[in-house]
Amino acid sequence: MGNAGPTGLKERIAAELAAVRERSLAYTDADDDMLVRQHSPLMSPLVWDLAHVGNYEELWVLREVGGIEPLRPEIDHLYDAFKYPRKDRPSLPLLGPAEARKYISGVRGRVLDVLDRVDLTDPDPLRSGGYVFGLVLQHEHQHDETMLATLQLSRRPGLVRDGELPPGRPAAEPEVHIPAGVFTMGTGGGTDTTPWAYDNERPAHRIYLPGYWIDRHPVTNAAYLEFVEDGGYRDPRWWLPQGWEWAERNGVEAPLFWTRDGDTWWRVRFGREEPVPPDEPVQHVSWYEADAYARWAGKRLPTEAEWEKACGGRTYPWGEADPGRLGRWANLGHRAARPAPAGAFPDGASPYGVEQLIGDVWEWTDSWFQPYPGYRCFPYEEYSKVFFGETYRVLRGGSWATHPSAVRTTFRNWDYPIRRQIFAGFRCARSED
Ligand SMILES: [Fe+2]
Repeated sequence: MGNAGPTGLKERIAAELAAVRERSLAYTDADDDMLVRQHSPLMSPLVWDLAHVGNYEELWVLREVGGIEPLRPEIDHLYDAFKYPRKDRPSLPLLGPAEARKYISGVRGRVLDVLDRVDLTDPDPLRSGGYVFGLVLQHEHQHDETMLATLQLSRRPGLVRDGELPPGRPAAEPEVHIPAGVFTMGTGGGTDTTPWAYDNERPAHRIYLPGYWIDRHPVTNAAYLEFVEDGGYRDPRWWLPQGWEWAERNGVEAPLFWTRDGDTWWRVRFGREEPVPPDEPVQHVSWYEADAYARWAGKRLPTEAEWEKACGGRTYPWGEADPGRLGRWANLGHRAARPAPAGAFPDGASPYGVEQLIGDVWEWTDSWFQPYPGYRCFPYEEYSKVFFGETYRVLRGGSWATHPSAVRTTFRNWDYPIRRQIFAGFRCARSED
């Protein structure tokens, strides 16, 4: 992104802004009841997400960079993600669907005016390289993925488009060996190949890792079913005490959205029931389930450093090529409404030969979400800083629902270890004997 000249960069930003808005409007192209209803206490009503992305854009692009007076100061508090928990949002006096669409389109028109006149070579960190536009673009794509999770929880059919994916292929060698050595984790400082990276991905720093093995593909439904059928959910040996207690209390005995009918396992995917496809990466499992499976399999979850090293030190595992031209590299950006079968993207392999690191399913890692050494908060504490500690586990790599502009090998996501509505799966690792 940063490599295009100032004019080319502006054109590209404008095109990306148009594309993400088209996406947000497609996910909210439903009747008003669907948009204002709360489909799960975990999620906001869809109409909240819609107005929130516009409000965020107003705060950062119009006020911070454009110096423009607030358009609707009286609504700011409604869309402040830290003010009211998601479960309380339906009772707020939110903008209705028509009002929300009008508000965000009014903001967007002024954003394009700011883009037109802003100097992207200005050293100010919000202006330089178009950072503030990268911030709002990624933010909107992240909310689009959240909206897909809400649509999945709603169990209403006919609202989410599906698509074609390449077939899978079995791995001759199911594990890949990564030799001991130093690698560069994170980005920024020195040569910054990912100018729109968030503060939590910075700065780049050198880390030594002993040799280890990592799965070539994410764990598939077929592999995970063996754990289920082997009584994995009924055997406390495999579980951390908190995970065991969580599974017991909630009656968890399979991934979210799965049900058993005789010998067949079914899942609900965007309102339709279908047999669980054996060769797809498992998704909708919590960190506790991933951790228990790994222990059952005689392995463990990779640390995020191990996950990132397996990518081979590139912006994407297959190189620097722009995933906007996804083609044969990865299942990102809602090509289809599901992960691709294991082995579907041999050309997307990292230099070590590890596949499907980017796209398909977010991958739980063993790591807590913590700052890197030398971390500096930018541009605001509520993006990353307030989440650091031993509360959230890191997820890596993006899912089928993640847009290419909002993921890279250094990108860090995080969530509570009990969360399952996100499009998350995992792969396993093990130390050298
Ligand atoms: Fe947000």
